Amino acid sequence: MKTPRELKVKPIRNGTVIDHITANKALHVLKILGLPSKEAAVTIAMNVKSAHIGAKDIVKIEGRELQSREVDKIALIAPNATINIVREYEIVGKGKVKLLNNVNGLLICPNPNCITNTNEPVISKFHVIDTEPLMLRCYYCERIMNNKDMETQFKQN
Ligand code: CTP
Ligand code: ZN
Repeated sequence: MKTPRELKVKPIRNGTVIDHITANKALHVLKILGLPSKEAAVTIAMNVKSAHIGAKDIVKIEGRELQSREVDKIALIAPNATINIVREYEIVGKGKVKLLNNVNGLLICPNPNCITNTNEPVISKFHVIDTEPLMLRCYYCERIMNNKDMETQFKQN
């Protein structure tokens, strides 16, 4: 009888591998990165078995190294993700995303009357009041935002 050979997802040459993404969150990660786009080839693996966290998602982006602002957004939806920067097939940088106590300028407050949604030049600011599940409070209007509310509130840039 033939034994199936394991098929691994292909390595990338240059770009970013986002590993240990919370299972089933890969599509959301792509969305906040503005992917798919014309420029970058993207490989996605969802619900893959992982020794440490049971199941995980992986996203590989060819030809793009993430900016710190993008990494901070990913921390909000996949708090255990690892960011691997790849150059010429070698990992030249590996780091874990980090959820800070304050989230500045990454999210739009869901309260239409919040000062951050007017023409005033005020940058949005949320305080992390809980992590499991994630709960944020607007510094200006005190509106509470949970995991679910947050999904639609990421700034485009
Ligand atoms: N990877 C890739 N292309 C490369 C190099 C690595 O797609 N040229 C991917 C690997 O498939 C893996 C991730 O980047 O999903 C991290 O690689 P590596 O650090 O070698 O794996 P681990 O040691 O398992 O990572 P960790 O310690 O973070 O669990
Ligand atoms: Zn607000």
